[in-house]
Amino acid sequence: METLSKPAVGKAHGKVILIGEHAVVYQMPAIALPFLAADVTVTIKPKTGDSFVDSAYFTGRIQEAPATLYNFVETLNAVCDSFDETSKGLYIKVDSQIPAERGMGSSAAIACALVRALFSYFDREINDELLYKFISISETIAHGNPSGIDTNIVSVDTPLYYIKGTEPKSLSLNLPGFLITADTGLKGQTKEAVNDVGELFKKSRTKTEGLIHSFGQLTNKAKSAIENHDIQTLGDILTKAHGHLTQLTVSNRELDTLVQTALSTGALGAKLTGGGRGGCMIALAKNVDHAKEISRELLEAGAKETWIHNLGDSYND
Ligand code: PMV
Repeated sequence: METLSKPAVGKAHGKVILIGEHAVVYQMPAIALPFLAADVTVTIKPKTGDSFVDSAYFTGRIQEAPATLYNFVETLNAVCDSFDETSKGLYIKVDSQIPAERGMGSSAAIACALVRALFSYFDREINDELLYKFISISETIAHGNPSGIDTNIVSVDTPLYYIKGTEPKSLSLNLPGFLITADTGLKGQTKEAVNDVGELFKKSRTKTEGLIHSFGQLTNKAKSAIENHDIQTLGDILTKAHGHLTQLTVSNRELDTLVQTALSTGALGAKLTGGGRGGCMIALAKNVDHAKEISRELLEAGAKETWIHNLGDSYND
């Protein structure tokens, strides 16, 4: 292998699921937005001897990485194997601004940035199919039975309407308002929550099927509201979706408190986002001052961090 004189760099961003999480595992639609305010950069340089990872989660020789980095190590090995290259002799630095295990797509984004950096380092041509294949290796280890929504959204810059097993569709978003994302500060439990929804199916199939199906209908109504630039209706739909997610047992006290706080501060709608049982919630505001007010109240009510995103035409540059 020819080593590069310059370090190879791969980047990706986080994501927010606007609506449809969990139901998307059961072939219902979901809508996800790229979360451009938080991203991850992986930088790879040559070194002698064993490969070394430098990250907020672990810093040391790759053989000594903890089990929580198993998805990272397996993705690295799979990409190197596919090139017939050794995964030794690499210095891999991970700089991530995406909080881990908060339903913001951290694991998929790190995998995406790693795969892009490896393709660049080994000077290979990447395409969407290969990127999807290698991120899926990481996501299957991290989440068990991923729908593929995180895998798809972390590598694109436009909102996506997604049904498992089908080609994601880009969605044009231009709404007169702002999205607030708030972190409970608690680790989300996507794998457990996804398993528990599966258990609900076993226990009461008809009821759970009905709930998932009506959640799917809500997502399609959300898509129409987005197409009609109707943020008020979208807000009502998001609040209803939180009710569905609560019935699916994936909310918790902290998420409910933040959702209630946002709504009592006049948010147009609010819900948990992602796997649930911790992680993040989202709320809609009619203007930036309103978004700042909601954000302040969320921090007051216990949120550890908030982000405000313009839902105007910034997604469609
Ligand atoms: O990674 P998270 O916490 O955003 O959860 C992903 C969304 C789920 O629908 C809960 C799971 C999946 O694979 O789609």
